Amino acid sequence: MTPPTATPPALRLDGVSHTYADQRRRTTVLKNIDCSFERGTFHTILGPSGSGKTTLLSLASGLDAPTRGTVSFDGQDLARLGLGRYRNKHCSTVFQQYNLLTYMTALQNVTTAMEITGAKPAQGGRKARALQVLESVGLDSDTARRGVLRLSGGQQQRVAVARALACDVDILFADEPTGNLDEDTAQGVIDIFRDLAHGQGKCVVVVTHSQQLAAQSDRVHTLRKGKLTEQVNTR
Ligand SMILES: Nc1ncnc2c1ncn2[C@@H]1O[C@H](COP(=O)(O)OP(=O)(O)OP(=O)(O)O)[C@@H](O)[C@H]1O
Ligand SMILES: [Mg+2]
Repeated sequence: MTPPTATPPALRLDGVSHTYADQRRRTTVLKNIDCSFERGTFHTILGPSGSGKTTLLSLASGLDAPTRGTVSFDGQDLARLGLGRYRNKHCSTVFQQYNLLTYMTALQNVTTAMEITGAKPAQGGRKARALQVLESVGLDSDTARRGVLRLSGGQQQRVAVARALACDVDILFADEPTGNLDEDTAQGVIDIFRDLAHGQGKCVVVVTHSQQLAAQSDRVHTLRKGKLTEQVNTR
C-alpha cells in the first residue's frame, strides 16, 4: 500500500474539459482530464499537432480558465487564488511563440519578468543574475544587450527560456522550448530543466515533439483525442 502523501501536488487538474466556441462551431479539445504534476519532477507532454497541448498549458498556467473542472496549485483552486496572482508569483512560461517584448533588449526582457515575479537573487542584483542565466543558455553579455529583434530565432528562444528560468518560481512551463535549437544547445536546455527539477525541487512541465527530450523526463503524458495518458520512465 502506498503511504498517503502529506502535501498536495504542485498542480492538479480535476475533471478538466475545454471547448472553444464561435458562432459556427464548438470544438472540445480536452475531455475530462485528471492529472497531477509534482515538485522535483520533470514532466513532458507529447501529442500530435492540434491535439491541445498549448491549450492544456494555458489552463495549467492560469492564462485561461477551463470550461469545466478545476485546476489547483498546492491544493488551492486557481479560481479562488486568482489567475493573475498565480501567474505572477508561482509559475513562469516559455511560450511557443516566445512572446518577448520586442522593443527591449534580451537583458531587459529577463529583468522585467524578474521584477514582476519579485525574484530576489541570493547574491548580486537582478541584472547580474539575469546575465548569469542568459550565459547559462549560451548568450554572452554582448548578445544580452541587443534588441531581441536583432537576434536569430534560436537566440530569441533562449532568451524566452532564460526569462522563465530567472523568475525562480515553483512551476516552470515550456511549450516546445527546443524547437529552434541545434542538438547540442537543445541538450544544454534539457540539462537545465532536469537540474531545476532534481537539483532545485521545481515542478517542470515541458510540451515537446521530441522523443529525445521526452526520454530524459521522469513522466511522459500523452495527449490524444482529448485524453491524457501517462507513462513513468524508469532508468
Ligand atoms: N483560441 C482558439 N479558438 C478556437 N480554436 C482554437 C483556439 N486555440 C486553439 N484552438 C484549436 O484547438 C485545437 C488545439 O490547439 P492547440 O494549440 O492547443 O494544439 P497543440 O497540441 O498545441 O498543437 P501544436 O503541436 O501544433 O502546437 C486545435 O484544433 C486548434 O485549432
Ligand atoms: Mg502548441
